[in-house]
Amino acid sequence: MSDRKLVISREQIRARVGELASRISADYTGKDLVMVGILNGAFIFLADLVRSVTIPVQIDFIRVASYGSRDMPSGTISLTKDIELDIRDKHVLLVEDIIDTGSTLAWLTEKLKDKKAASLRICTLIDKKERRQSDVEVDYIGFSLENGFLVGYGLDYAEQYRYLPEIYTLLP
Ligand code: IMP
Ligand code: MG
Repeated sequence: MSDRKLVISREQIRARVGELASRISADYTGKDLVMVGILNGAFIFLADLVRSVTIPVQIDFIRVASYGSRDMPSGTISLTKDIELDIRDKHVLLVEDIIDTGSTLAWLTEKLKDKKAASLRICTLIDKKERRQSDVEVDYIGFSLENGFLVGYGLDYAEQYRYLPEIYTLLP
């Protein structure tokens, strides 16, 4: 299709997910790991990641709504679905599709602190740096990009394109 251009292929994603999974498996060996996917965008990435790790892992999901726009993303953020597992004293890895301004993750990590996990780290498929406003420490990064709007492999534009197995940028 001509309205989009391939940015990251299936094969590149597969290879990178494998590398991240190896690092995560090594880092969390012997620890109670809970991976928390941020809905909806992270559902495919998380599904691939958990099937690639070689250690036991529990899985939960969280969902936030941000009432902003692409140009003013740091509007009001609210929790629309909390996690359901008890993460007290467990090692939590938050799994996100893409970090842009960082507002969502800054807000979420603050929110999750009350739950007294043993540790809280962040894994993102894509780290998009140009518009970063909040200082978030990201421990596992799939791909780093400067800018652009991406879709596919879970990422959407107006709830479209999530099903695509590779990652594209939308052309104007
Ligand atoms: P942040 O709070 O600005 O870091 O925004 C992160 C959220 O915005 C992500 O979870 C995505 O849902 C969405 N987002 C940011 N950039 C993109 C993009 O390029 N494609 C699709 N969604 C994006
Ligand atoms: Mg998202």
